[in-house]
Amino acid sequence: MIRSILPLGVALLGASRVLADAPTCSLAQKCPKEAPCCSQYGQCGVGAFCLGGCDPRMSNTLDACVPAPVCKDKTYTWDNNTFHDYYKDIGSYLGDSSKVDWVGQGEPIPFEGNVLLTMPEHSVGTVLATTTYMWYGSVKAKLKTSRDAGVVTAFILLSDVKDEIDYEFVGTELDTAQTNYYFQGIPNYDNSDNITKLSNTYDNFHEYEIQWTPDTITWLVDGKVGRVKKKSETYNATARQWNYPQTPSRVQISIWPGGLDTNAKGTIDWAGGPIDWNSQEIKNYGYYFATFGEIDVKCYNANSPPGTNKKTSYYFNDASATNNTVVDSDKPTVLKSFLGSGTDMNAGSSTASGSASQPSNSNVNTVPGGSSTPAQAPGGNSGSSSDSSSNGGDSSSSGNSGNSGGTSNSGSNSNCPSTGFSQSCGSSSTNPKNDGVRVVERSLGGSALAGIIGFAWLLLL
Ligand SMILES: *[C@@H]1O[C@H](CO)[C@@H](O)[C@H](O)[C@H]1NC(C)=O
Ligand SMILES: *[C@@H]1O[C@H](CO)[C@@H](O)[C@H](O)[C@H]1NC(C)=O
Ligand SMILES: *[C@@H]1O[C@H](CO)[C@@H](O)[C@H](O)[C@H]1NC(C)=O
Ligand SMILES: *[C@@H]1O[C@H](CO)[C@@H](O)[C@H](O)[C@H]1NC(C)=O
Repeated sequence: MIRSILPLGVALLGASRVLADAPTCSLAQKCPKEAPCCSQYGQCGVGAFCLGGCDPRMSNTLDACVPAPVCKDKTYTWDNNTFHDYYKDIGSYLGDSSKVDWVGQGEPIPFEGNVLLTMPEHSVGTVLATTTYMWYGSVKAKLKTSRDAGVVTAFILLSDVKDEIDYEFVGTELDTAQTNYYFQGIPNYDNSDNITKLSNTYDNFHEYEIQWTPDTITWLVDGKVGRVKKKSETYNATARQWNYPQTPSRVQISIWPGGLDTNAKGTIDWAGGPIDWNSQEIKNYGYYFATFGEIDVKCYNANSPPGTNKKTSYYFNDASATNNTVVDSDKPTVLKSFLGSGTDMNAGSSTASGSASQPSNSNVNTVPGGSSTPAQAPGGNSGSSSDSSSNGGDSSSSGNSGNSGGTSNSGSNSNCPSTGFSQSCGSSSTNPKNDGVRVVERSLGGSALAGIIGFAWLLLL
């Protein structure tokens, strides 16, 4: 369903707090020079805004976004002892995919060889994305979904120009995997289809697979083909292009609250109804959760483009962002600090020529949904999730993305910093089961909403 598109990502990362005057971006309105990178959610900034999800078409220049690490064959597992080595909050990751496998926001909890993506009371859930990009290939995930009305689990591929291939699971339909795809985020109601009659997806692990080639997308559950979509079926004669996902994409996994009462009615209905924060699930565990086991990525590994992963990074050389505009290159992918962007990778480092080591531009956002103050390099206690600095605020302006979740505005708790995700400032501290689990809260500034509305699909809700 269209309304589920922003799914994951957008819900979480998207519903970010931005400074009142933070610029927003869309195809029609590119980011300004001083905040050149357009995040996945349509806000401008530097640093993490220029990494995963940065949309070059909406950024100040095509090269404002940092080049994207190429596809890597890998079987991801969830060792609980080293979790904080291979997983980083987006507020403490600068682009080195050789060190970090996953970046995200929210409350992932490694548990018995799996990772629980959790959604504590009044939070917007959790999203994780790979640090490398698949340019065709296959990905499979063993997972158990969340359950209950308004709770959505997702496993998708999403490119920086919003090509997308989805599995989504609504918590009231535990025998169904909804599948979907998008070309550059253009909504189309005919793109979705269901794989049905699965044994209870909350109780049972199933293996969900996406096989993606330049010609065909195949969705398989437990090794059995559930749906096939051919590129040849997707030609748009008016636009003279294939409305087919074709650009390097991150694997994203998430849980998000489609049934928040602040969401559009269409979204709430699609998600199975309003979410209940007093559910048995919340009473038992302190959060809703989805359980992800092993995730296996196999690159397409073509000998010539499209679909190669021979060099270091992908970038786009043209704003049409079709697969013949993707370059498999030797460009570096790592920023020196959160003041950097694709056109100034060394900004903020003491050795960078022409730039002071002291941030001069503290009004520019550096982490979507996070701190507005320049964060420190990895290793420091930086970033959105750990930033408890009170960022004074406009939490009162929180709204919702109207679509993929957004804020729950429990931030009426004045102890909560108004920065996006924050630690233990929520209302569930009375829940014994919730000890040690950070409560995720996020407020969404009006300007963020405006930015997100820039995406056409929202207009269809
Ligand atoms: C963490 O991993 C160890 C083995 O490496 C295992 O014995 C333990 O049960 C795990 N703890 C959790 C909470 O999953
Ligand atoms: C998929 O299932 C959902 C929920 O039952 C339903 O609303 C939707 O119409 C179905 N989509 C298709 C294409 O059948
Ligand atoms: C085809 O492209 C045209 C022009 O961009 C657009 O208006 C139309 O909605 C597209 N059709 C579909 C089915 O996506
Ligand atoms: C991808 O690029 C190839 C070669 O440039 C082209 O033949 C193919 O049509 C493109 N695929 C799509 C989906 O546009």
